[in-house]
Amino acid sequence: MSLHINSTAPDFAADTSLGPIQFHDWAGKDWVIFFSHPRDFTPVCTTELAAAERLTGAFAARGAKMLAISVDSVDDHCRWLGDIEETQGVRPSFPIVADPDRAVSTLYDMIPPNAPNTFTVRSVFFIDPNRQVRAIITYPASTGRNFDELLRVLDSLQLTDVHKVATPANWRHGDDVVIVPALTDPDEMARRFPKGWKVLKPWLRITPQPV
Ligand code: BEZ
Repeated sequence: MSLHINSTAPDFAADTSLGPIQFHDWAGKDWVIFFSHPRDFTPVCTTELAAAERLTGAFAARGAKMLAISVDSVDDHCRWLGDIEETQGVRPSFPIVADPDRAVSTLYDMIPPNAPNTFTVRSVFFIDPNRQVRAIITYPASTGRNFDELLRVLDSLQLTDVHKVATPANWRHGDDVVIVPALTDPDEMARRFPKGWKVLKPWLRITPQPV
C-alpha cells in the first residue's frame, strides 16, 4: 500500500526495544514522528537516534513523541542502544520497532522498489492525533536527517491547523507567515490578524505569526 498525505496511518502490532506495542493505542492522543533507519550498528543511524533523543523534550512540549523502526531484531536494538549511549552520550528513550520480517516497513512503504537490498531507507511520517499522515519525508541511507527540520515541520503543521496561514520558505517559529489565498473577507482578516498585514500582491500577503 502506498501512503500519502491524508492517508490514515495503518495500525500494527510489533515488538520494540521497550516491549510490544499496538501502534494506535501507543500513539494515544499524541502526534507521532515515525521514522525508519536502514540498520542497527551503522554510523549515520547512530548519530540520528542520538539527535532524536536530544529533541524528545522539544517534541513532547508540542504533544509529539518519536517512534523509530529498522529491520533488525529487539536483541540487536537493545545491544545497539548501549553503543549509542557509549559513543553519543545519550540513550534513546523512545521505542525502536523491530521489523525483521519487514511487515511494518512494507505496510509503510519504507523499502524502495528495485533496491539492491531490503533495508528501510530514512522515511519520516508525521502522524496527527486523528491518525492522519500529515507529512512524509524520505532521504537515502547515505544522508542523515536534520532533526531540527522535523521540529520545524511539526511547528508549521500545528500552526497552520489553527490559523488560516501557511509558512514560507525557511520559516522558523516566530517568523512572519503568509495568509492563505482563500481568505479574502476583510472583517475576518482584521479579526484573525490584528497586527495587520502587508499586501505584496493580492495573493501574497505577509503577517506576523499569530499566537
Ligand atoms: C549509516 O547509518 O551509517 C548507513 C546505513 C546504511 C547505508 C549507509 C550508511
